[in-house]
Amino acid sequence: MVEWTDKERTTIQDLFSKIDYDAVGQATLCRCLIVYPWTQRYFAKFGNLYNAAAIMGNADVAKHGSIILHGLDRAMKNMDNIKAAYTDLSTLHSETLHVDPDNFRLLSDCLAIVLAARMGKNFTPEIQATIQKFMAVVVSALGRQYH
Ligand code: HEM
Repeated sequence: MVEWTDKERTTIQDLFSKIDYDAVGQATLCRCLIVYPWTQRYFAKFGNLYNAAAIMGNADVAKHGSIILHGLDRAMKNMDNIKAAYTDLSTLHSETLHVDPDNFRLLSDCLAIVLAARMGKNFTPEIQATIQKFMAVVVSALGRQYH
């Protein structure tokens, strides 16, 4: 059972209240698909992912990035029981989509980099620590079928 301090809760809630889900989601998924090209195999139905420009201009990628951020929103609203909140998402990713759970951590690193770039000096080590803790719980809940 993960323990959250009041400060960590406030940090996560504050962060989600300020970020633009569409823009951050798109930038995060694009970065993941470009930096770790093997992740593209799961998104074959999204059409042209031929190069960085194609990925960044792909409307399905943009839409799915936003869906991922809304998925994280679900964890943010259920910080005390992320595993339960993610039961269906975990089953979907493991049993239906067969996503290698290592990829969750890659996406999570891309999110941290996107937030760092957008927040600049406001992305303090303390804030980064809280985000990384939150994403570690998300990654573990999403991939739990494998452990
Ligand atoms: C780590 C955070 C992640 C979150 C919060 C997340 C969340 C979601 C959500 C909310 C959906 C839609 C579920 C539905 O339609 O009911 C979804 C679908 C999907 N996810 Fe993830 N996901 C994550 C990571 C990944 C990664 C790393 C990959 C692959 C590299 C991936 C591949 C997919 C695919 C292929 C779909 C189905 C897309 C479609 O059919 O349109 N996800 N994800």
